[in-house]
Amino acid sequence: MRRLIAAPLITALIFLGGSAFAENPNMASCTGCHGIDGATGMMPDVPNIAGIPAVVQEDALYAYLDESRKCWAPGIMCQVMSGLSEEDISEVSAEFAAMPFKPANEDFNADLAAKGKALHMESCAMCHGADDSGEGESSILHGQRIEYLRKVMEQYAAGERAQPPMMEEKMTVLTPEQIEDIANFYASYRAP
Ligand code: HEC
Ligand code: HEC
Repeated sequence: MRRLIAAPLITALIFLGGSAFAENPNMASCTGCHGIDGATGMMPDVPNIAGIPAVVQEDALYAYLDESRKCWAPGIMCQVMSGLSEEDISEVSAEFAAMPFKPANEDFNADLAAKGKALHMESCAMCHGADDSGEGESSILHGQRIEYLRKVMEQYAAGERAQPPMMEEKMTVLTPEQIEDIANFYASYRAP
């Protein structure tokens, strides 16, 4: 139904030679928060999603949909997701996955980042990679927004966000200081 209503609008946008997303009306609501390039969200806790593998994004979107990921106040992502069909979910995930990843270049503390690197190598690198580039089915962590990383890791540590069992073992033993160290390490990444 929504698609039928949207059809004349899409045609109009294509006719005007508008944005690259003219074919997919759902993208406009996403880019409003995540940025037109998927990497320049206006709010500090909005993650960069450009270049994150589609399978990871789809997983995340279904977790918001069934609320196994507790959306933080005001539960924005859970509300957004309730309007999307399965087809919409694969489409938007594929669009953001196809965009080039851009590191957020956040400020960081070098001493904390060095401690965070050691923790990462010991507990996280086996899944997130020596350079945490997010190969395969884990997300891209380096260059992610630091405020997003903090919030996510606090949720993981508190058992409030679904995560792989082997990761849970590593996350639940982290102290708040160690979470800050790791967040600073991921934030320290700069494009080569
Ligand atoms: C009103 C702002 C807003 C809108 C609109 C929005 N997002 Fe988000 N998005 C967020 C915030 C904030 C988070 C992190 C929140 C959380 O995890 O609870 C997030 C998280 C995500 C994640 C998880 C990233 C990861 O690495 O796990 C994906 C994927 C995502 N959004 C995709 C989308 C898509 C696709 C749309 C459009 C259909 C969309 N978002 C619309 C604000 C928004
Ligand atoms: C057993 C493999 C494994 C280990 C070990 C592991 N992770 Fe993960 N991690 C994953 C997978 C798979 C995902 C994506 C799953 C999801 O979002 O539900 C993920 C997601 C994440 C995310 C969320 C990304 C996002 O944008 O939503 C963060 C942050 C994270 N891991 C940090 C860590 C840290 C820090 C450690 C070490 C203390 C660690 N992980 C150890 C596999 C692992």
